[in-house]
Amino acid sequence: MASWQTLSDRINIVSPSATLAVDSKAKAMKAAGVDVIGFGAGEPNFPTPQNIVDTAAAACRDPRNHRYTPTAGLPELREAIAAKTLRDSSYQVDANQVVVTNGGKQAVYEVFQILLDEGDEVIIPAPFWTSYPEVVKLAGGNPVEVFSGHEQGFIPTVEQLDAARTPRTKAIILNSPSNPTGAVWDEELVREVGKWALDNHLWVISDEIYEHLTYDGVRTSYVGELLPELRDQLIVLNGVAKTYAMTGWRVGWMVAPVDVAKAASKLQGHMTSNVSNVSQRAALCAVAGPLDEVGHMRQAFDVRRNAITTALNAIPGVSCPTPQGAFYAFPNVEALLNRALGPKGSIAASSAELAALLLDEAHIAAVPGEAFGAPGYLRFSYALADADLAEGMRRMHEWVTA
Ligand SMILES: Cc1ncc(COP(=O)(O)O)c(C=O)c1O
Repeated sequence: MASWQTLSDRINIVSPSATLAVDSKAKAMKAAGVDVIGFGAGEPNFPTPQNIVDTAAAACRDPRNHRYTPTAGLPELREAIAAKTLRDSSYQVDANQVVVTNGGKQAVYEVFQILLDEGDEVIIPAPFWTSYPEVVKLAGGNPVEVFSGHEQGFIPTVEQLDAARTPRTKAIILNSPSNPTGAVWDEELVREVGKWALDNHLWVISDEIYEHLTYDGVRTSYVGELLPELRDQLIVLNGVAKTYAMTGWRVGWMVAPVDVAKAASKLQGHMTSNVSNVSQRAALCAVAGPLDEVGHMRQAFDVRRNAITTALNAIPGVSCPTPQGAFYAFPNVEALLNRALGPKGSIAASSAELAALLLDEAHIAAVPGEAFGAPGYLRFSYALADADLAEGMRRMHEWVTA
């Protein structure tokens, strides 16, 4: 290949999103007529609540919404997000600390572009959401993974985090409730980690996108609420995707110190400008409204959570802690590796190979743990219909025990 044809080092060091890859392979198989059950996608199977859809439909007909908005978002949406932040996390912020982004994903990307210089390190508790290390690398930074397995409930200790700290450490990512494990950090740990970040002058990036999806009476602990003194070095990431079943509308945000918010707006001004005006109107309706619908969704997820955890643990060789948040189960499957499985006696040497076999032979799509810094695990999203969940688990059980 001629040198002008090679792509940049920057893009070549980035791995593609494995979660989207599994989802698109499953969708392609479905389109080809194969009856695939998808546990891959991280999106609720519910429609967006009707009042939000109606608001957006009306917004489409209003020519005022056919125009750009300020890059950082509609002023009334930024106000509503500030009010929501106070309502849910007792954390008082001004609207000028809020930047509305194209999904939470863009907020994650922008944060690291703003904070990192070449070689800066970011501590990422693993298993982690698949995009974190990639966006850190895109910003020239080095992701430093700190792994905690299922025997630890996927929750690290401060000692583990501190062992990964170096003079180059600039930030730590918190994501509780967690994608992919569903683990929820308790108040004491959130406080302890916040205190440790404060003492060591680290930025805390708190991704709270699953905040309203917790079970068994467990509640999300907010580091900004527990440690007000941390707020000058805290960036909260959030969005409407998971709480209001609005993944396709692409509205997220960051809440940050004013200079960071201004920098994000400057960057976004050259990338995408504002989020779709109509989507912002829909998000305004969602964020300013009550949390009734998410309450109903949470109840449905809770039933599925119990169903999937029971079904997974009933499969010989699979061990799955009960998740307390989000809508993912994250079983350990190491005991299924390197042995004959399924009617053809197929052998998987890794969880990535196991996920490929499950898709090809049992027609169920799960995401391999490799995508989350956790080989030996699989991620199952249980945001799918009850009947599909039951059928998918039946297929896996039958395939493994064939
Ligand atoms: C932990 C976490 N953060 C952020 C996002 C981004 O969501 P979106 O860009 O759809 O708002 C996701 C989506 O899967 C996620 O799981």
